[in-house]
Amino acid sequence: MKLTADEERMLSGKSGPGVQRALELLIAVGEAYEAEKLIDISSSHILSPEMQFWNTGQLSRWSRELVAESVEGATHFRVPVTINPIFLEPAIAERLGYPESYIEEMRQSLAFGRETYARLGVIPTYTCCPFYIHTLRQGEHSGGAESLVVLFNNSVLGVRVNRESGPTALATALTGKTPLYGMHLSENRHGQAIVELQDDLDPKAFTYADYNALSYGVGKMVVDKIPVFLGLPRNMSITQLKYLCAPLGVSAGIPMFHAVGITPEAPTLEATLGGRKPETRIEVSKKEISRTFEELCSATEPRVNYVFLGCPHVTIPEMKEIATLLQGKKIKSEVLLVVGTTKPLYLLARQMGLVDIIENSGGMVVSGMCSAGSFLRRGVPEGFHVGVVATNAAKAAHYLKAGGVQVWFGTMQKCINAAVTGKWEDA
Ligand code: F3S
Repeated sequence: MKLTADEERMLSGKSGPGVQRALELLIAVGEAYEAEKLIDISSSHILSPEMQFWNTGQLSRWSRELVAESVEGATHFRVPVTINPIFLEPAIAERLGYPESYIEEMRQSLAFGRETYARLGVIPTYTCCPFYIHTLRQGEHSGGAESLVVLFNNSVLGVRVNRESGPTALATALTGKTPLYGMHLSENRHGQAIVELQDDLDPKAFTYADYNALSYGVGKMVVDKIPVFLGLPRNMSITQLKYLCAPLGVSAGIPMFHAVGITPEAPTLEATLGGRKPETRIEVSKKEISRTFEELCSATEPRVNYVFLGCPHVTIPEMKEIATLLQGKKIKSEVLLVVGTTKPLYLLARQMGLVDIIENSGGMVVSGMCSAGSFLRRGVPEGFHVGVVATNAAKAAHYLKAGGVQVWFGTMQKCINAAVTGKWEDA
């Protein structure tokens, strides 16, 4: 691979062993994909395993050692860098009654990450929706992990980014470089699978859960082909687009989708396909959407003990809807309702009185934590019973179900009802 003088300098170790290893890693990835060269990126989004997938024991120790080695000698990130959420807010662990030793080990691990990334100049977003805070422009090249960020950046913003791993995303942040392959090249960004909504569906009336189900179901059908949605409302909101992105990240291996007339690289179907014929056509009717709703539920009993909203982190309009649904109601004492968002939106929602409404009802609004309930499927201290979870997020339902947790998937309205009554209606 042809390297610039700047890249040769990093490779020689003059910027420290961490940066040297980072460049070696990016070159190895580039060679595997037959990239001609590395390119400059304007930003990166990192996902730190020891913070997001924290667990007691070996995994967190190994992750910490890997990160410590990766940043050895590095003094700063070379581009603006945002970061994904942490695993679990210690305050929630306390509320769940987790042992102090567990919480202490988690605190130490989180402190290591926070200090390390702060020293390197991270923008401490701790969210899977960094686009609420640090937005990029169409055509920019970026580095990054977290499937939602990659899908949103490529599809909704027209930013060019590959689905990277935690270590390669960190390498892009340390070097400001990424190999030129995949989604950085125009020829790989065309649509491949046409998705047609049938007449028995009214997308204008879709709930967030419907968008989740559509995305999750289509992901399973396209597998690795870039879908092109036809017939979605042109005035789709950022919240709806966020829910169209996130489930595709777990039910398919794709980095991008198009929605004709909505996303920036899909002004027309012809332009989206890049002059090629579609590889496949998929029809989605009410039947497929209902089947996905059923598929995402694994619970067998009506009792609900946890309700999670905010996978991906909620927007202000969602926070308003949650507050409106909860106004004047009390959450059942045995149920924990967690609403996850980002720090700036949390502060705005507090200023607007929305956090007070949710908290006065007995719910918790947290910022910076992965609200998919990942702490319920890994790292649960011995002797703690997880119980039954309700959520309106297909991505959270997918992960929880895969982790053996009993889960109900449905609308925000149903989730709030479950928080108030402790039961899933229609169970
Ligand atoms: Fe975000 Fe965690 Fe869901 S990172 S998209 S809240 S799985």
